[in-house]
Amino acid sequence: MSHTEEKSFHMTPDEFRRYGHAVVDWIADYHSRIESFPVLSQVKPGEIRASLPADPPAKGEAFDAVMKDVERIILPGVTHWQSPSFFAYFPCNASGPGILGDLLSSGFGIQGMLWSTSPACTELETHVMDWLVTMLGLPEKFRSSSTGGGVIQDTASSAALCALLAARERATNYASNKKGCDGKSIAYCSSHTHSSLDKAAMISGIGVDNLRKIEVDENFAMKPGALEKQIEADKRAGLTPCFVCATVGTTSSNAMDPLVAIGEVCRRHNLWLHVDAAMSGTAMLCPEFRHLQNGVEFADSYNFNPHKWMFTNFDCNCFWVADRKSLIQTLSILPEYLRNQATESGAVIDYRDWHIQLGRRFRSLKLWFVIRHYGLEGLQHHIREHVRLAQEFAGWVRKDERFELAAPAPLNLVCFRHKGGATANQTIMDRLNQSGDLFLTHTKLNGKLTLRLCAGQTNTKSRHVENAWKRIREEAHRIKPSAP
Ligand SMILES: Cc1ncc(COP(=O)(O)O)c(C=O)c1O
Repeated sequence: MSHTEEKSFHMTPDEFRRYGHAVVDWIADYHSRIESFPVLSQVKPGEIRASLPADPPAKGEAFDAVMKDVERIILPGVTHWQSPSFFAYFPCNASGPGILGDLLSSGFGIQGMLWSTSPACTELETHVMDWLVTMLGLPEKFRSSSTGGGVIQDTASSAALCALLAARERATNYASNKKGCDGKSIAYCSSHTHSSLDKAAMISGIGVDNLRKIEVDENFAMKPGALEKQIEADKRAGLTPCFVCATVGTTSSNAMDPLVAIGEVCRRHNLWLHVDAAMSGTAMLCPEFRHLQNGVEFADSYNFNPHKWMFTNFDCNCFWVADRKSLIQTLSILPEYLRNQATESGAVIDYRDWHIQLGRRFRSLKLWFVIRHYGLEGLQHHIREHVRLAQEFAGWVRKDERFELAAPAPLNLVCFRHKGGATANQTIMDRLNQSGDLFLTHTKLNGKLTLRLCAGQTNTKSRHVENAWKRIREEAHRIKPSAP
């Protein structure tokens, strides 16, 4: 063997073992000291980059030196999404089994674009997605043994895009894929639907002007009557309505679009119904919350994010279709270099035909770890706890005459505001977030600045929500009564 063949810069297996243990220890310590950090990172723009060397290292560095910089440079620039006092946006929670499943996925380092490139990656995914149909009480048509099936996507945004593409193709008899869009395909959502639908309209060639934003009722839920009127007007104008997105738990206020009425409209007009349950879908693990998505049986596609509320670290979106053929026909490609016997036999699923990208990670591992670790019982317990904590918080808001609830709180999100107006609410939120004690974000409902508290971080307990309310009241106390 020549000298150059032997030379290696790789980490040896022994080093990997040692540093790997050190990183797992670091993560465990990080989680146990997480409450000592300000929840929202306090760095200024550019501060992290200013601490990094201008030039990349010419020579490799010791692993210990890298970890020291994680502590010194990176940690201050982290917003602690895994802090139990993180109440902002929607959660993006994680758990021990989720992190370890993800680590194992990196350890295997496989790329599962085809069944044959790692059969376990495909088959575990199909199996876990079928388990979730049972666990969430979803319609049988989503099961792989039926006409449909599930696939793990990176995000709800990608799921929405795939659904819109399949709807577009179904409506144009697969002509748009060949010839491009003719500007006539029309999609519908509500004025409170997540912005990922705008992106999907841009990317799919439908165009944002052809994504109709249907008005909402006093609870911020889509008005099915207004939807039907708009569809009829579009048809009269010679356009081709093809797709409706209904949301179970909107981002702004956790509004629940009425799926039965929307589903009936879709059925009457033969439109694809996509149901986006990005965060609130996790609540369907508990039968008592399933009434919130009555009508889900009308859906042609459905998705939720275990990476939001189901203890499965980012990224992991579960997406089902009722008719897998329409999705596959929309996204299928078969260059010569991907041909193989298993595909040709028709006996396997090749998930590369179920999403945008070709390559895919082994994401089902972390989901499988989470489901096996908690069991349905454990998952239900923690989801019920989060809902209980949010409902308790809503009760405190109701009783305090300085505050009001700004929307119904069906699950774990509470939208509320100080009655003193926009400046008062902005001041309260800014001060809380600057203090580092907790992290809240806002929305606008009926034009009014509204604070949102979402209970969904893995380790959020009563004391964290109690402390949040205590701190909110303290900041409200500091607001001068004359504040506009
Ligand atoms: C209702 C809803 N849909 C879609 C999304 C987008 O999620 P993702 O980041 O997975 O694309 C969100 C994010 O908060 C959401 O709340």
